[in-house]
Amino acid sequence: MSTLLNRRSALLGGAALASLFAAPRAWAQAPASAPSGPFTLPPLPYAANANEPHIDAQTMEIHHGRHHAAYVANLNAAVKDHGQVAAMPIEQILARLGEMPEAIRTALRNNGGGHANHAMFWGIMGGKGGAPTGELAEAITRDLGGFDKLKGDFNGAGARVFGSGWVFVTVDRAGKLALASRPNQDTPLMDDGRVLIGNDVWEHAYYLKYQNRRPAYLEAWWNVLDWEKVAARYAAAKAGSLTI
Ligand SMILES: [Fe+2]
Repeated sequence: MSTLLNRRSALLGGAALASLFAAPRAWAQAPASAPSGPFTLPPLPYAANANEPHIDAQTMEIHHGRHHAAYVANLNAAVKDHGQVAAMPIEQILARLGEMPEAIRTALRNNGGGHANHAMFWGIMGGKGGAPTGELAEAITRDLGGFDKLKGDFNGAGARVFGSGWVFVTVDRAGKLALASRPNQDTPLMDDGRVLIGNDVWEHAYYLKYQNRRPAYLEAWWNVLDWEKVAARYAAAKAGSLTI
C-alpha cells in the first residue's frame, strides 16, 4: 500500500516537474494545470531544421513547441467540463461552432482553429518545393489559372491579411479549388469547407528570420512545400476522407 502511494507520489512529482520544462511560462499562454487531453500536439513529421534555409529551426521549434502547444493546452482546458464537445473531432467542433456552449465558443474558435490550422501546416511542409503534377496540376490550371498565377494571387492575399491570419487554397468534394484568407485562427473548416494548403502569416511564423518582410517569407515558403503530401490531401478531399 505505502509502496503504491509512494510510487504514485513519485510519478505525480515527475509529471509536474516535466511540465515545468515542457511549457515555459514566458511563452505558453496555457493554464498551469491544463489537462493532457483529449487533444494532443502532433509531433513535427521532420526535423526542426528540415525547412532551412527558408524557415529556420528556431522558428519551427518555437512555433510548434510553444505556440501550437499552447493552442492545444487551451483547447483541452476549454473542453474540460464539456464531455460531449471533448468527444467530438476538431473539424466537427469547428464546423458547428454556433452550436457550441457560448461560454467556451470563443476559446474553441481561437484554440481549436489554431490547432487544426497548425496540424495542417506541419503536414504539408518538409518538402523541396517544385511544382504540382498530374491531376492536381490540372485542377490548379482549371480553377486558379495555373501554378504561377496561384503563387502570385496566394502571396498577394497573404500580404493583404491585416494583422494576423492565414491564406488558404480550399478544395471541395468535386476537387474544385479556390483561394481564401481568414483572420486570426479562423479556417474554412468553420464553413464546413476543406483546406488543400494554407500558410500562416502571423508574425510568429516568420519574424525571427524575415522581420517585417512578410512578402519575402510568402515567396520563400513555396520552397518547403511537399507536393506529394498536398496531392494526397487532394485525393483525400475527393474521397471525402480529408479531415483537417
Ligand atoms: Fe502559427
